Amino acid sequence: MKTQVAIIGGGPAGMLLSEILHRAGIDSVVLEAKSRDYVLSRIRAGVLEQGTVELLRENGLGERMDRDGHPHDGAAIVWAGRDRYFIDAWKYAGKRFMTYGQTNIQEDLFAAADRRQAKLLCEAQDVQPHDMTTDKPYVTFRHNGEDVRLDCDFIAGCDGFHGVSRKSIPTSILREFEKVYPFGWLGVLSETPPLNELVYCNHPRGFALASQRNPMLSRYYIQVSLDDKVEAWSDDRFWAELKLRYPKEIADAIVTGPSIEKSIAPLRSFVAEPMRHGRLFLAGDAAHIVPPTGAKGLNLAASDVFYLSRAFKAYYAQGSTKLIDSYSAMALRRVWSSVRFSWWLTNLLHRFPGMTEFEQRAQECELEYLASSQHASASVAEQYAGLPFEPA
Ligand code: APR
Ligand code: PHB
Repeated sequence: MKTQVAIIGGGPAGMLLSEILHRAGIDSVVLEAKSRDYVLSRIRAGVLEQGTVELLRENGLGERMDRDGHPHDGAAIVWAGRDRYFIDAWKYAGKRFMTYGQTNIQEDLFAAADRRQAKLLCEAQDVQPHDMTTDKPYVTFRHNGEDVRLDCDFIAGCDGFHGVSRKSIPTSILREFEKVYPFGWLGVLSETPPLNELVYCNHPRGFALASQRNPMLSRYYIQVSLDDKVEAWSDDRFWAELKLRYPKEIADAIVTGPSIEKSIAPLRSFVAEPMRHGRLFLAGDAAHIVPPTGAKGLNLAASDVFYLSRAFKAYYAQGSTKLIDSYSAMALRRVWSSVRFSWWLTNLLHRFPGMTEFEQRAQECELEYLASSQHASASVAEQYAGLPFEPA
């Protein structure tokens, strides 16, 4: 087989890249290890920055998002004894964001791929990139019992944190930066009407978050300890704990019901540098992970794909390698700004085991400063809304 860009991984990063390249007349093949049903069954993020919304719209993926997604001017934070504080992205950054589930985006991407009869090979086994540092890279894999070799100009590693792409970069070249947090998030999806807005909560019992997918689908999270097991959390226990953490008016407004999904995810920050090795380019979770507190994971995958697709377009249209050469550094600038923000917001909103009284006071003081300062509010709102993409 032969293509221009071999894409490893059919998550949001890989599928969006394939779609954008197709619209620019660039051929790609997507190799996905799992089945479509499996990819669609994963419950992931749900908040889209304006830049992500615009990128999806510009590439013909905005129709259902604009119909079913819910635009927001900002998100609220509540903490002990305090009125609701609003991160006003609209007021301070002139940007809105959208709640629309990653599962829906993945469905929209598969539907668009089907319409153009895209080359998407699911359940591809033993995918392996080769000869990335030559000008004739290729990928080998097994599909339907056959060994296949895919020749290409470039390889895009969009295969998530556990993928093969990052691991194929020599350890003498790759640098990894990691921070693991001493707690996880227990997430629940329920077919109940959500609160009107996103509400982050810092409480002595731990962090909580109220989010949403659509008018009859809510997403809630609570901070739990790393050794907590999901089986120990009945629906009743979850709702009781969630309501204990929110102020009474908000707790009373939360509509409870049976959960349709419940899982615990650990929190980590991770960055791999560089995001390019020869003709292999990393994008999305393959190169970086953020704790979900800032809702940046999916948005970073989208911004990587924006930069990478722009670089490939310039290469095929004008023969220019300038953007290919600057891809890693440019993508990493935006990655690090979101990694820093997600780490900061995680520190601000969680109760850390063994936190000293000093650290507790400092956290409360920082929250109070945020609530009382226009400058601090503008800074947080600008970052929550998402920084603009860099010009070429
Ligand atoms: N070969 C082929 N495909 C693979 C391989 C492999 N060796 N390893 C992993 N994959 C596939 C996975 O099955 C998955 O479908 O790559 C895909 C990667 O998708 P995601 O993990 O969703 O990563 P990405 O597309 O970068 O999207 C980032 O996902 O985790 C969230 O918060 C994150 O919202 C962000 C988004
Ligand atoms: C979600 O809706 O899943 C969500 C929202 C905001 C976050 C994290 C997750 O910060």
